[in-house]
Amino acid sequence: MSQMPVISEHYSLHDKNTLRLASCAEYFATFTSSDELAELIRWAEQKSLAIRVLGGGSNVLMPEFVPGLVIQSKDETVSVVSEDESSVVIDVAAGKCWHDWVVESIQYGHGLENLALIPGSVGASPVQNIGAYGVEVSDLLVSVTGFNIAEQRMLTIEKADCDFSYRDSVFKNRLKNNFVICSVRFRLNKFFSPNLEYAPLNTLDKNTLTAQELTRFVAAVRSAKLPDPANIPNAGSFFKNPIISSQKAETLKLAHPSLPLYPSGPDSADVKVAAGWLIEHCGFKGKVFGPVAMYEKQALVLTTDGKALLSDVTKLKESVQEVVAQTFDIHLEPEPQLFTS
Ligand code: EPU
Repeated sequence: MSQMPVISEHYSLHDKNTLRLASCAEYFATFTSSDELAELIRWAEQKSLAIRVLGGGSNVLMPEFVPGLVIQSKDETVSVVSEDESSVVIDVAAGKCWHDWVVESIQYGHGLENLALIPGSVGASPVQNIGAYGVEVSDLLVSVTGFNIAEQRMLTIEKADCDFSYRDSVFKNRLKNNFVICSVRFRLNKFFSPNLEYAPLNTLDKNTLTAQELTRFVAAVRSAKLPDPANIPNAGSFFKNPIISSQKAETLKLAHPSLPLYPSGPDSADVKVAAGWLIEHCGFKGKVFGPVAMYEKQALVLTTDGKALLSDVTKLKESVQEVVAQTFDIHLEPEPQLFTS
């Protein structure tokens, strides 16, 4: 019988969300094993409390009060499952810091380098299928293991059943609030064959580049553009890059020749538009609205002064959405999710 983890009542989540929104959980606990997790879930169910899972807190919008039990994995175990000539399969526990894992992954294999310095935890990475510079976590992921609350058992979900797409997965949809991710299985390539298609990675020399250099380069590029949540509270990109029809994109491009457009995927004629550009051209870049602002170096990033409430963020979100819709007839969808939705 495993021991019941400590459960704190009226626990501040201010330092557990990277926007540093003022928030208080009715109950909060951490767990380091599936047995401890099962104990916590049993406890919450006996009290008829909702269970909310917190990862690194870098993609959530925290209301002032979170009813129920908030749980967070503190398990950071990394274990090699198998390997062959070309690849190595590794399980990483949900509580591991994503960037620490990317840096460590290089000693086992390759593929994750472009995802350096993305804030958050390994357990949160499949939820919104994190991505940067032409790589998404789903490219390297084999399966996700966690506790299915409705079925009261541990389950492994294979990649094909994760419904991955741009910043989306089954964990944000069908399994939302019903699946506690405990570990993620990755297959890394033993040979370093970097994806350098995206600017500014396309300035690097593929023949001499090492994995360590690539990780450092990506981290430097991100640091130059994106604020460090430890200094300036933020949640990375606040909106997704919208996907529009190629017809609409052509019309927009005629009116705005500098508008950055990208293919939306190999099987689609639709086009992805740079939301940061749209927001900048609506005049929001660097604009401060009391405790919240749109970042001066990347208009897609909403920052706070550490004293903001969810209502401040919502107000700015709605005003950006409104002006972008009026100007470009494009709806911007936020990336971070309301923690209690
Ligand atoms: N741009 C502007 N003004 C701005 C910001 C961007 O004109 O204020 C233009 C840039 O000049 C560039 C284009 O928009 O031409 C794209 O900008 P950037 O390369 O910074 O990338 P992004 O599309 O804004 C996406 C991801 C980031 C990821 C980068 C790099 C989304 C929502 N965001 O940003 O992910 O790091 O590409 O691959 O897909 C995150 O999700 O939190 C995140 C940071």
